[in-house]
Amino acid sequence: MSLQADIAKVRGDFDQRLQAVQAGKESVEQLRIAFLGRKGAVAALFSSMGAIPANDRRAAGQALNELKSNLTAEIDAIATVDDKGGTSSQQEHDMTLEGDYIRSGSLHPITIVEDRIRKIFARLGFSIHYGPEVETEFYNFEALNFQPDHPARDMQDTFYISDNLLLRTHTSNNQIHAMQEMRPPVRILMPGRVFRNEAINARSHCLFHQIEGLVVDRNISMAELKGTLTHFAKELYGQDTVTRFRPSYFPFTEPSAEMDIYWGLDTEADYRITKGTGWLEILGCGMVHPNVLEAVDIDPEEWTGYAFGMGLERMAMLKWGIEDIRHFFEGDLRFLRQFGA
Ligand code: PHE
Repeated sequence: MSLQADIAKVRGDFDQRLQAVQAGKESVEQLRIAFLGRKGAVAALFSSMGAIPANDRRAAGQALNELKSNLTAEIDAIATVDDKGGTSSQQEHDMTLEGDYIRSGSLHPITIVEDRIRKIFARLGFSIHYGPEVETEFYNFEALNFQPDHPARDMQDTFYISDNLLLRTHTSNNQIHAMQEMRPPVRILMPGRVFRNEAINARSHCLFHQIEGLVVDRNISMAELKGTLTHFAKELYGQDTVTRFRPSYFPFTEPSAEMDIYWGLDTEADYRITKGTGWLEILGCGMVHPNVLEAVDIDPEEWTGYAFGMGLERMAMLKWGIEDIRHFFEGDLRFLRQFGA
């Protein structure tokens, strides 16, 4: 091949790759190295000069120099036109440019509270168990000893999907699934979302989160329930936290209780959130009702257990003094960013 043909070929290749650079598929710097670099196409042509007859060398040198300066000029032209940084060799290292500010995310307050509660119970040997959010009447009510005419079953309180399908109104449905899936001893914690057909306002929402606990074993007593939950309250709210148990009623526990913590009456807000009593209810609990054990074929003469359930939004509201439950569901970054690590 003659030198002229070689030059024409390099020129043709260059034009093609130039298009690739303009289309953003290649960087200007790659192009420069391929053609003008020490081992580039132009350098290769120069080193082939030795084979050219002495008489023609002068003209050949001129032709190559012309090629080199043309390519250099064209590369320089696109390198300066390209002002977006990145592919431009002149702008790639502009130290005066301001860096990108990368904001790190943060955990949702409900996640933070859930994690803390999980850790406390993990140390007591509880493992995690999940159950469905779409549920049948059997798991949400019947097996939990709710009578057929119990008001909680009403459309007023429960979102029904069809005659027999509903959105669970509490995580207690998991108690039934868990006891069907595993035989005692059972010692589990069951977090999840729950749904109630309630008007949305600062105090209540149609969606919220609960954590349910269930222990079934031989010789489980009310004393163990009280000891465990008192320990839990001290771990979560501080060692000098004062608790009390008040008798209450749930169809699936007997006896049933609610645990309060002493919140104090130091400020006006304390009066408001404790309704002037200084005490705050934080969870419902009780000994698993024999009817519930029977519904899942566990012999209540041999096994006993306790259960408890608490609302996570309520825990988070107390922890951070949040006065409107709707904040948790709106995804407003001005709210969420306050919980960064
Ligand atoms: N499921 C009850 C509620 O939603 C809480 C609870 C759970 C009470 C377990 C006792 C035992 O209010």
